[in-house]
Amino acid sequence: YRNLRVALLGAGSVGSQVARLLLENRDELAQRIGAGIELAGIAVRNVDAPRDVDIPRELFTTDALGLIESADIVVELMGGIEPAREYILAAITSGADVVTGNKALLATHGPELFTAAERVGAQLYYEAAAGGAIPIIRPLRESLAGDRVERILGIVNGTTNFILDRMDTDGDTFENALAVATELGYAEADPTADIEAYDAAQKAAILASLAFHTSFPVEAVHREGITTVTAAQVESAQKAGFVVKLLAICERHTDPTTGVEGVTARVHPALVDRRHPLAAVHDAKNAVFVQAEAAGDLMFYGAGAGGLETASAVLGDLVSAARRHVAGGPGVGESTQANVPILPIGTVVTRY
Ligand code: HSE
Repeated sequence: YRNLRVALLGAGSVGSQVARLLLENRDELAQRIGAGIELAGIAVRNVDAPRDVDIPRELFTTDALGLIESADIVVELMGGIEPAREYILAAITSGADVVTGNKALLATHGPELFTAAERVGAQLYYEAAAGGAIPIIRPLRESLAGDRVERILGIVNGTTNFILDRMDTDGDTFENALAVATELGYAEADPTADIEAYDAAQKAAILASLAFHTSFPVEAVHREGITTVTAAQVESAQKAGFVVKLLAICERHTDPTTGVEGVTARVHPALVDRRHPLAAVHDAKNAVFVQAEAAGDLMFYGAGAGGLETASAVLGDLVSAARRHVAGGPGVGESTQANVPILPIGTVVTRY
């Protein structure tokens, strides 16, 4: 089988890590996929801009559409609505599968992209669009597809969880905690998206759409940020046995007057009982607590942001897309690890 050609769009914090890991782990990934995988190029606005990691200069190009045309898989990590939307549609039209982490685009133009992909039999993968490294898209789309999700309670924004956690554990002020979150690189370029919960609302729309098999528009997500949460409120919540968390709550609901059954999604600061597993989600970590009819309670926990961590989700999607391209290659979920030695049990080291 010929090498699969991957076009990467964007070389920001996630994109540059994806490029690095793809180049470094090419052989191992090729084994798992059952075919060679080649980074054909990286489309950027400015070829000479400084990057977080060392990537050969000849891979960069400003000709995104030219790169897309020759690709089997297009990985869009540039963010924003345009030209990301135009590029993804071009990729789908040219027969490529698409991997994206663009939650803003999915939350606003998801149906348009999914319809375009369906029309030509292309796949759109977006594990990185909600919850960073946490596998939550695939569990909702695949593992739980036979169950009936009743409710999702999510801590889906690292910046606000970091701020509220510091206010709770150190008695820190909102402003100081926000400055630290920005310095650590958790916050979006404009932190308004985090603290006013626009970022969390976009993720809630994506999760609600998947969990309830619908197309939940971001405008229908009720949204309240954390800018009005005071140190005094955090303290009195603490005394009563609660912790203040910004929760994305997506659930089934029956309208009491009309009797119509549907779903609602909302994001707002909420009091969480300190014994609930979500109360133990500290720092900038994210977690999605899912309640399903048959499965019961499930919790998915991990890094919701960060270039390297989010690159893990992107690469997982890339392997899935690549496997789909390879006729006779390993199917989704299988893996070929014939070269990984099995160690005798005595050498296992457990450390935490
Ligand atoms: N600013 C976001 C957060 C990054 O704090 O969670 C990941 O979407």
